[in-house]
Amino acid sequence: MIAIELNILVGTMTGIAQLVAQEIELRLDGEGLSVHTLEMDELDPSVFDRNGLFLICTSTYGQGDVPDNAKDLYDALCALRPDLSHVSYGVIGLGDRTYADTFCFGGKRFDEILTQLGAKRIGEMMLHDASAGTLPEDDAADWIEPWIELCNERLGCEAEQQAAQN
Ligand SMILES: Cc1cc2nc3c(=O)[nH]c(=O)nc-3n(C[C@H](O)[C@H](O)[C@H](O)COP(=O)(O)O)c2cc1C
Repeated sequence: MIAIELNILVGTMTGIAQLVAQEIELRLDGEGLSVHTLEMDELDPSVFDRNGLFLICTSTYGQGDVPDNAKDLYDALCALRPDLSHVSYGVIGLGDRTYADTFCFGGKRFDEILTQLGAKRIGEMMLHDASAGTLPEDDAADWIEPWIELCNERLGCEAEQQAAQN
């Protein structure tokens, strides 16, 4: 695993997404990565000026809405529409299939706006169903290392392509 920075942006109502971020930090400890967990209510779109990868880790509330602490960041991205073509990201969406029509819409909404703004998602989203009987932090602990490997492959390929063009 090559050394990279990982910024985990947490959107949560009751703290489960925060637990998921903590578990990821523990799992990646000693892997040569620098992990920064950031609560979304402290952020504006300039967070995407940071170096490294981004992992959106958010639940869903209301009728398929992002959680309250993610609203300002989400609304600012939609209103200001910054160019995020330099950004690579992944998504962990927390939800419940009981809400069949809006399952994991919090994560899906962030995925949609980031894609619209030119950011590139690496890999599939991890979508956790609270009714499935597994803990999201356990699922995330299994998901994160293959995702980081995939990021390293992709970013390594891009760096090679850029070097070949120069
Ligand atoms: C009032 C309420 C509304 C919810 N609405 C949705 C929803 O529309 N879609 C969905 O997939 N999950 C929905 N959920 C499930 C939560 O997203 C899920 O339980 C999540 O794990 C909570 O994580 P958090 O503690 O980080 O906020 C809802 C939960 C509650 C309590």
